[in-house]
Amino acid sequence: MLDKLNEIEKAALESLAAINDEAALEAWRVANIGRSSPVMSVFSQMGALSKEERPLVGQRANQVKVAIETAFAQKAEAVKQAALAKALTGEKLDVTLPGRPARHGRLHPASQNLRRILGILAEMGFQTYTSRESESDEYNFQYLNFPPNHPAREMQDSFYIEAEGREDNPILMRTHTSPGQIRAMREFAASDPENPPAIRIALPGMCYRFEQITARSEVQFNQVEGLVVGEGITFSALKGTLSDFARRMFGQNAKTRFRSDHFPFTEPSAEMDVECYVCGGKGCPVCKKSGWLEILGCGMVHPNVLMNGGYDPRRYTGFAFGMGPERQIMLRYKINDIRYFWGNDVRFLEQF
Ligand code: PHE
Repeated sequence: MLDKLNEIEKAALESLAAINDEAALEAWRVANIGRSSPVMSVFSQMGALSKEERPLVGQRANQVKVAIETAFAQKAEAVKQAALAKALTGEKLDVTLPGRPARHGRLHPASQNLRRILGILAEMGFQTYTSRESESDEYNFQYLNFPPNHPAREMQDSFYIEAEGREDNPILMRTHTSPGQIRAMREFAASDPENPPAIRIALPGMCYRFEQITARSEVQFNQVEGLVVGEGITFSALKGTLSDFARRMFGQNAKTRFRSDHFPFTEPSAEMDVECYVCGGKGCPVCKKSGWLEILGCGMVHPNVLMNGGYDPRRYTGFAFGMGPERQIMLRYKINDIRYFWGNDVRFLEQF
């Protein structure tokens, strides 16, 4: 039995010496230390030995078992170190390589300009008020003093939404941000119907018109509307506010001029031009040699509109204006085709 144990030890240690990877090591462990390994079977045969032999064989079997286990532990560590060394030399990691640049997204040029306008108006005390994009005919036209069949509606060909039983009040995509004037006035007036509070708001957002899409016209575009309502609001307040806005928007020396115009929901109505910021007023193709760029429509809120909003026109007056942020960008950067804005071509978008 003792000879057999010596052989077991010798065979185990010899076969271990040849091993140099983890899979072979594990197979060796099962064969040489596992429950049915040769040393372990010696322990299970102890019962058959004589009283004298038993302690000698037992002691030797323990020595062999410890020797094999110790050798295994050393080998396991060696195999692990070898694997690590191999990984370190094989899988080279060059920490001095420059990283891959992260692609930064950015806001769409239209949103950038929209935010800039709203930021300037906010500094001037205008609170941003967002209103819905789908509207009823009443809000988009009738409350704004466009009677049914009024020819002014034809300036704003519309997308109607199919809905049954609405007869002369169909649903449409708003053609301008002006219906938000009525929604806002009604909401403010509801807070105190006897004494509606003063209003100073900016209404931004997408508008939709049924247009043929060309270099000059799109079916969707942003507008920013302004509305001021209170007691004693005058046309000179309109001019002062909008001239101030133009200086903040286009520079301290921006000159403005007002020309009379017509909108059903304002009276009197005007267009505001700003001195061409491309040529400085000298005349160029962008301003069509006039030296002026048309920037916004404006006017004193029509008494019927105030009334429809819940504000008594005998006590309150107000002014409103509406502008197109995309148009401003087109003029500034001489963009000659409005279709670039919603065409989603990064070669255009990444320039802003
Ligand atoms: N809603 C008008 C348009 O879309 C612009 C406007 C707004 C004019 C407010 C006057 C006052 O053309």
